[in-house]
Amino acid sequence: MSHAGVCPARSAREPVQLLKGPVPGFALWLCRLDLDPQSTAAMARSLSAPERDRAARFGTDALRRRWIVGRATLRSLLGAKLGVEPHAVELKAGRRGRPELATPRGLDFNVSHTQAVALIAIADALPPVTRVGVDIERADRAVNSDGLARKFLTERERAALAPLDGDSRRRRFLRLWTCKEAMSKATGDALSAPFRDIEVSMGEEPKLVAGPPPYTPDAWQLWVACVPTHLIATVGIWRRN
Ligand SMILES: CC(C)(COP(=O)(O)OP(=O)(O)OC[C@H]1O[C@@H](n2cnc3c(N)ncnc32)[C@H](O)[C@@H]1OP(=O)(O)O)[C@@H](O)C(=O)NCCC(=O)NCCS
Repeated sequence: MSHAGVCPARSAREPVQLLKGPVPGFALWLCRLDLDPQSTAAMARSLSAPERDRAARFGTDALRRRWIVGRATLRSLLGAKLGVEPHAVELKAGRRGRPELATPRGLDFNVSHTQAVALIAIADALPPVTRVGVDIERADRAVNSDGLARKFLTERERAALAPLDGDSRRRRFLRLWTCKEAMSKATGDALSAPFRDIEVSMGEEPKLVAGPPPYTPDAWQLWVACVPTHLIATVGIWRRN
């Protein structure tokens, strides 16, 4: 690795790549979502009826196919962990729609996608109180970092961004954003998380330094995922008390 969390580019031909994970018992995959129509149709067969209905509601074929491949890949990875066929994995919507196993099996997972890639995390050998969240963004994503910083960052985080030039500021904002969104996805709070009160410091690895419960530093580990340089991704691991 040339820098924490950044890996040399690998073959883009593999549809699913296992990435280096933050801790034993935790697996992280980067998945290509633009597969050929035949593979996509075959994968669609593992989806449940409500998932197929959801796929049918996407506005474009490209979005529909990506979603099908992402969900089918998730089913396949979970099925392999649980020792069942992908279609037999039973999922439910947890807190604020957070996808979870219908029956707890000592395993937690989370998914994030950006354009044609998905990041899938599965924690299967961590203490049962552990929850995971992931977020992935394109590194060239255009964001109004100053405006979003006022909305989502703490005063100290904004002060740390202020001296940076435009592009570094934008990238630093995206990193902070992925940290906070990964945490919000571990808890299931999603966009209702108190982003402006959750404070992350950026050292060698990002670290939660302050926040209201359940975003208290002792309960969290943040980890920069080892993705190709055109992407920015962070994993949040929450050990609930
Ligand atoms: C859950 C949420 C926070 C994630 O949305 P997102 O960043 O657009 O999308 P991601 O690809 O990272 O995550 C989506 C996945 O998270 C999972 N998810 C859905 N609800 C969730 C929740 N409450 N908690 C955790 N994970 C959730 C699902 O697996 C979903 O994938 P699916 O559509 O295949 O089911 C969503 O509420 C949202 O709307 N986010 C908007 C983010 C934004 O505006 N960012 C701008 C600043 S850069």
